Amino acid sequence: MVHAQRRFRLGVLGSGKGSNFVAIADAIQAGRVPAEVAVVLSDVESAGILQHARQRGLAAQYLPPGRFRTKLDEVAEASYLQALREAEVDLVVLAGFMRILKGEFLRAFEGRVVNIHPSLLPSFPGLEAWRQALDYGAKVAGCTVHLVDQGIDTGPILAQRAVAVRDGDTAASLHERVQEAERDLYPQVIGALARGEIQVHGRLTRGFRPPAVTE
Ligand code: GAR
Repeated sequence: MVHAQRRFRLGVLGSGKGSNFVAIADAIQAGRVPAEVAVVLSDVESAGILQHARQRGLAAQYLPPGRFRTKLDEVAEASYLQALREAEVDLVVLAGFMRILKGEFLRAFEGRVVNIHPSLLPSFPGLEAWRQALDYGAKVAGCTVHLVDQGIDTGPILAQRAVAVRDGDTAASLHERVQEAERDLYPQVIGALARGEIQVHGRLTRGFRPPAVTE
C-alpha cells in the first residue's frame, strides 16, 4: 500500500491577534506552503490566534504561562514541550509569541524554532520595534525572520524585508505596513524551510533569497 507522504508539521505559538498565523494558514490552503498546522498554542486565553485556529478546525490550546511576566516558568515550559511533542511537530513557529523561550525548550527544538520580529535586526530588538525605529528617526523599517537561539532576537537571520518610513508616518501606520510585509514574508520562509531549501552555517544561511524591499 502506498502511504501519503508525511507533511511537515508546524506548531504555532502566539499571544495576539494572529494575523501572521492567518497568512500562514491561508498560504498552506492555497498550496504555497507544503506543511500542515499540527497545533496552535497560546499563553493568552482570549488571543485571536486561538479563535482563528478553531475557526479553521485546527487543534488550538491555551496553556498558562506560569508565574513570570516575560517568560514561561519550568512547569509551563514542560507543558508546551509536551504538547508540541505529542503533535509531532517538525518546526515551532513563533507568530507574535510574547514570551522568551529558554534552555530546555530550545535544546529540545534546537535549530527548529523560527520567529518573526518587526524590525530589521540587529536594530531594534525587544518590544514595539516598529515604534522604536520611528522614534529613532530611521528611514527604513521592516521585519526579520530568524531562527531562535538563547539570546533575545539574536538568532541566525533567514530573511528580511525593508519597509520605507514615510513622512507623516505614525506608529500605527508604520506598524500596519510592517505587518503587511510580515504576512507576505513569513509564509514564504516557512515554505522554504518545509521544502528543505535553507542551509544554516553558523550565523549564515543560504538557499533562499526573497525580495528584500517593499516600497
Ligand atoms: C507581529 O508583528 C510580530 O512581528 C510581533 O508580534 C506581532 C504579532 O502579530 N512579534 C514580536 O514583536 C516578537 N518580539 P499577529 O498576532 O497579528 O501575528
